[in-house]
Amino acid sequence: MTGRRTNNSFSAAFTPEAVLVLCFLFVATPKTAIAHKGEKHDLSVSSEKKLSAPDGEWIKIINEDYVGTVKPIFQKSCFDCHSQSPRLPWYYSIPLIHGMLNQDMHEAKQHLDMTNDFPFGGHGRPDEDLKAIRDSIVDKSMPPLSYRLMHREANLSESDRQAIMDWIARSEKIAPKNQK
Ligand code: HEC
Repeated sequence: MTGRRTNNSFSAAFTPEAVLVLCFLFVATPKTAIAHKGEKHDLSVSSEKKLSAPDGEWIKIINEDYVGTVKPIFQKSCFDCHSQSPRLPWYYSIPLIHGMLNQDMHEAKQHLDMTNDFPFGGHGRPDEDLKAIRDSIVDKSMPPLSYRLMHREANLSESDRQAIMDWIARSEKIAPKNQK
């Protein structure tokens, strides 16, 4: 009896219309995200701060700005993979998962190492890192989905994303291009 009722409510919840709507949402969402790549639609630059700096000073200014505004967000959402001595999750002690995570964390740091603040370590120049981070925010590729599913608290909120975009916009005004 109970089993039958469950079946009925299951098919009632998933009418063909509902399935269509779900499919539409699934297909439409990533497309919109990609279409906005590189543009500043909803992530508008709201900073009034105008920065200009003499040679060398720009690193210091960007870093002070970073430590005060963006670092706490990255600590919450990125440091597990993009910095040394992360707070290791409990499942790290499961051997197979340990190996997978090690690989992920090692690779992540080769690309972008946030251990010593800005300028970040890794293979990119500061201006390349800023651009790469902006791309990852715009297309929502970081933190990786598999990680986000296990760490809800690492999800970036809209205000996190806005704070990161604003910091990048301020930084790009003073970061020279093509300089290590
Ligand atoms: C679960 C581990 C993990 C977390 C958490 C994570 N990343 Fe990554 N990230 C990676 C890996 C692995 C790569 C390298 C492979 C790739 O590009 O997918 C990477 C690559 C990147 C790159 C590309 C760097 C380059 O020069 O190509 C950027 C930018 C980036 N991550 C930003 C972030 C930001 C910002 C956060 C937090 C909001 C974050 N990541 C959180 C694992 C992670």
